[in-house]
Amino acid sequence: MCRPTYFDVTYAINPWMNPDKPVDAALAAEQWDELRRLYLEYGHTVDLIDPVEGLPDMVFAANGATVVDDRVLVARFRHAERAAEAPAYQEWFTSRGYPEVHPAEYVNEAEGDYMVVGRTILAGTGFRTDPRAHAELERALGRPVITLNLVDPRYYHLDTALAVLSDTEVMYYPGAFSPESLAILRELHPDAILVDEADAEAFGLNAVSDGLRVFLPDTATGLARQLRDRGFEPVGVDLSELLKAGGSVKCCTLEIRHRAAA
Ligand code: ARG
Repeated sequence: MCRPTYFDVTYAINPWMNPDKPVDAALAAEQWDELRRLYLEYGHTVDLIDPVEGLPDMVFAANGATVVDDRVLVARFRHAERAAEAPAYQEWFTSRGYPEVHPAEYVNEAEGDYMVVGRTILAGTGFRTDPRAHAELERALGRPVITLNLVDPRYYHLDTALAVLSDTEVMYYPGAFSPESLAILRELHPDAILVDEADAEAFGLNAVSDGLRVFLPDTATGLARQLRDRGFEPVGVDLSELLKAGGSVKCCTLEIRHRAAA
């Protein structure tokens, strides 16, 4: 995670951002602290990357890199405003001795568009990640990649429209996908939780699951009920200030998947 020390909305690169609307930096920090506290309370380890002044979106750590089996593919950002985040993540992983830290040739916004489901990676494109990056991801991390096309600008990253619940289960908002991609999702995940528009708009899909608990925005109340019915424990979090930049729980969380011990 990355502390929102320099968080602000000073430009608009997605439909949720309005630089004229004030951001309460102190409240953003409190809300972020609470998310971190919840992760720790439930037994998760949280590493921190130092925020960089002048990079107001760096709090959205999910966009920094994709990590599978300790192999790292660093992001390459679509917009100039965020470009300098990539070297910070490259340096973080390199200095910690990760064996493979690949810089990216094509634009990819990491876990914003890449969702690891068991052995497979679902990869979004349409707004941020270049479709050519999907083959690069497959080469760098050695996992099969399935391309999904996003069609609604409000759901500009895959992690705003789909979340992974376990190695085999996902939930998604159908309205965010092209008909072809929806057909693929239905075939791969016939039992997926289908999320309605109100919960998608509340950023309910910007969630992190540890297989038991699902951390998600507390305003996605219908989705919390659906999760409970499936046997998950929803853990609601208020990240309303960060939502002003178009991000929530998952965006703030880069998941580090280590190599299983031999
Ligand atoms: N303002 C940021 C952007 O538009 C928000 C990023 C949200 N991150 C995410 N993983 N969806 O790039």
